Amino acid sequence: MDLPTGQQTAIDVRGLHAGYGPTTVVRNLNLVVAAGEVVALLGPNGAGKSTTLLTIAGLLPAQKGELWVLGRPVDAKRPWSAARHGVALVPEERALFFDLTVRENLLLAIRGDRQKAIDSAISYLPALGPLLGRLAGQLSGGEQQMLALARALASEPKVLLVDEMSLGLAPVIVQRLLPILRTVADDLGLAVVIVEQHIHMALSVADRAVVLSHGDVVLAGSAKELAARRDLLASQYLGDAAL
Ligand SMILES: Nc1ncnc2c1ncn2[C@@H]1O[C@H](COP(=O)(O)OP(=O)(O)O)[C@@H](O)[C@H]1O
Ligand SMILES: [Mg+2]
Repeated sequence: MDLPTGQQTAIDVRGLHAGYGPTTVVRNLNLVVAAGEVVALLGPNGAGKSTTLLTIAGLLPAQKGELWVLGRPVDAKRPWSAARHGVALVPEERALFFDLTVRENLLLAIRGDRQKAIDSAISYLPALGPLLGRLAGQLSGGEQQMLALARALASEPKVLLVDEMSLGLAPVIVQRLLPILRTVADDLGLAVVIVEQHIHMALSVADRAVVLSHGDVVLAGSAKELAARRDLLASQYLGDAAL
């Protein structure tokens, strides 16, 4: 996929094969994401979406292909390196510390000026402001997801990878949270990749989308183009059989 000229490439994935041990679950993925862009990674369960995000985040070694993030090759032998260099992953399971407060969960992610990073994260998720002293385990599902996102933002990333943010949340909450990803891409110039089951909501905030099925890219294009494809919704649930 070519980028509009003048935009800085944040994620550059070419011919990526990814998987677990000898098993390949993503084949030949090409994905280029610029600073300030939001790309939706769509596809049915088991298509390889989470595997792709884990590999880009440097938490799972690539099996084959070239993988550059923020101008550096991703090295899964040094899993801390991606985070240190500006990559934040909001994993499907959120991975919060329930026995710590909201503020303490945020502090764990911050390397620089603590108050500035907290204030910046809270400015995008103001509902968390009054909850800073509350234990994460006492938050609602939506508030926990806000905290997971705020924690990622507090690490002041340049690349933000968000896996199924809407899992278990009411659509009305998803409608509030997804546009925040568009805003941080626009305001802070983050390159954002979202994996999302609510495809039409995802396409409404994304610039482009890639659809995976059984580990292969079956469709890619602008969010506008894909939103107009009526077969896309079926493909999300049925895989390439529906395309
Ligand atoms: N830790 C793992 N070890 C082995 N296979 C896995 C592991 N995690 C996921 N898989 C397999 O990889 C494939 C893709 O999974 P995943 O990337 O989680 O899909 P998606 O996020 O699109 O639902 C599935 O067949 C899944 O069973
Ligand atoms: Mg997944």
